[in-house]
Amino acid sequence: MFNIKYFESVESTMDIARENPIHGNIIQAGEQLSGRGRRGNQWSSPKGNLYQSIILQPKSPKQSWGQLSFVIAVALSKTCEGLGVNHYQLKWPNDVLIDNRKLAGILIEVLGDFVIVGTGINIQHAPDDKCKINDFCDVTVNEFRDLFLIQITKYFKVWEEEGFPSIRNLWMKHAYRLGEEIQARLPNITYDGVFEDLDNNGILLLREKDGNLRQINSGEILVCS
Ligand code: BTN
Repeated sequence: MFNIKYFESVESTMDIARENPIHGNIIQAGEQLSGRGRRGNQWSSPKGNLYQSIILQPKSPKQSWGQLSFVIAVALSKTCEGLGVNHYQLKWPNDVLIDNRKLAGILIEVLGDFVIVGTGINIQHAPDDKCKINDFCDVTVNEFRDLFLIQITKYFKVWEEEGFPSIRNLWMKHAYRLGEEIQARLPNITYDGVFEDLDNNGILLLREKDGNLRQINSGEILVCS
């Protein structure tokens, strides 16, 4: 399914992927000089980690493409399981945590009929507030990449053939703070409540103190202190 193009050093694999989008092409880089994360953050990208942008052309309508972040998070978690690392949690919408620290970042960008899925996975190096897979097992960047691509192929197919519910069920088994008090932080407002459920579109359902069930479809969840 995939055709990997490797570069030693780039500004960002996302930019190269955007230049010539072809379904199944992957831009991988040894390092990034301007790796980018969500909400305009930088993504630290020294040599020794996995940086790639995967170009996909889903058959499903565009409004469902946000679900891909769950597909990729599940594929990433299954890759960890395959390496014997089972104590991970999935934080809405698309973070994989081990021991409460982020292992990887997933960035989804839409370009016309294509989706560019950027994944930055800490293999050998991690900033202080994050973790790396080599804290838990021995695996090289390209070994991890090959295992990850097998899982992406599998769960992308599940998503295309069965829809989101199968992905949702897998994701829910490891959901971070499910049933607990959280803060849902959106760009301009924060809501407090209990993380009650994830609906069949990937929307987080937050039960507020007054009983209202609020739908959260973007943002980042924080734990109440
Ligand atoms: C996040 O903020 O959690 C998402 C980080 C995504 C980083 C990856 S690394 C490969 C690809 N290229 C980039 O510039 N960003 C993504």
